[in-house]
Amino acid sequence: MTTASANPAPTGTKTTDPLHLIDVDHVRLYVGNAKQAAVFYAATFGFDLQQVADLTTGIRDHASYLLTQGNIRLLLTSPLNTDHPATDEIAKYGDGVKDVAFTVFDAEKAYERALKNGAESAYEPITSSDSRGSVTRAGVKASGRVVHSFVSRTGDYELTNLKKGGPFNTKFQPIEHFAWNDYNKQHPCGLKYLDHLVCNVEEGKMNHWVDWYEHVLEFTMFKHFDDHDISTEYSALMSKVMASGNQLIKIPINEPAAGKKKSQILEYLEWHNMTPGVQHLAFRTDDELHSVTELRRRGVDFLTIPDEYYNSVWERVKKQGWDVKEDHEKVRDLGILVDADDEGYLLQLFTKPLQDRPTLFFEIICRRGSQSFGKGNFKALFESLELEQERRGNL
Ligand code: FE2
Repeated sequence: MTTASANPAPTGTKTTDPLHLIDVDHVRLYVGNAKQAAVFYAATFGFDLQQVADLTTGIRDHASYLLTQGNIRLLLTSPLNTDHPATDEIAKYGDGVKDVAFTVFDAEKAYERALKNGAESAYEPITSSDSRGSVTRAGVKASGRVVHSFVSRTGDYELTNLKKGGPFNTKFQPIEHFAWNDYNKQHPCGLKYLDHLVCNVEEGKMNHWVDWYEHVLEFTMFKHFDDHDISTEYSALMSKVMASGNQLIKIPINEPAAGKKKSQILEYLEWHNMTPGVQHLAFRTDDELHSVTELRRRGVDFLTIPDEYYNSVWERVKKQGWDVKEDHEKVRDLGILVDADDEGYLLQLFTKPLQDRPTLFFEIICRRGSQSFGKGNFKALFESLELEQERRGNL
């Protein structure tokens, strides 16, 4: 088994492959008020507020806050005027993921290769440099509003340094004092890195985007769940999972499928201006019980799992050959989901939407050998999602 355990990928390996992904450089969210959103993600999910770029650091048209936890870097960006493209996007989609950026050895070469492979440019290479080093980035358009940036770094800006608190980019300043950073040190949530991220696309477009990841970013197909596997009486989706060449990152792509009631994928699209986008980010932890306990204590709003789920879950996992070593009672009390495949089992739990629109949410996942995504939990997940949809009057 070589897959997700390989993340984070070794950073020192030189390769001639321009699309070799060294790491997830950062995930950029466009949000209405980055200053306030930063406090939300710090307080509820335990991210440290590390650096800022805004009016005080010489930026005139936007403000960005870098939040970090483990090897996760979230960049929250708000526009400061109507000319900034984020203004229009936030009006259309609300808060959400704009860019999933990958660190590469040479951003320009990665960008050129992606264009040669058929990508459409989102923005051309830009290099920011000062006496400390340089950051070069360039972006291609993925599904809907999503962009994938390629980022290459030199000097103090190198990824190894960034991981130790080094500068993110020119015009970013460290945040010296922030009460939640101290609190997080004493009460860690244990989120380590981005395990996978899921994109929702329009009905009939899944295969188009599977081909796009295969040909443009040179990903390969990881798993395939068909409609029959994961549909419930009321909801349905189709999903295929794409993985980068080095298995660093996995991207399941969902499209809505026919069901008696409205698919959760369709609900997402309807509240996202019928535009594809990132549905959830899954953060990896080594200790699901600890992470979920701490996140719940901080007030994270997780999906409610029906009680009946725990009547059959242990037997289901056992049938696949695994004993769940975590305390079963605690798993149930915390409302954590369990699933298994032929390689092992996993524990996972999904938050409710992170903003008023039923769009982006987070997943907290712990793998005990399993490399899948919780297929066996789709039914339970859908049933609890449907309760939520019903409450919102969107069924
Ligand atoms: Fe997931």
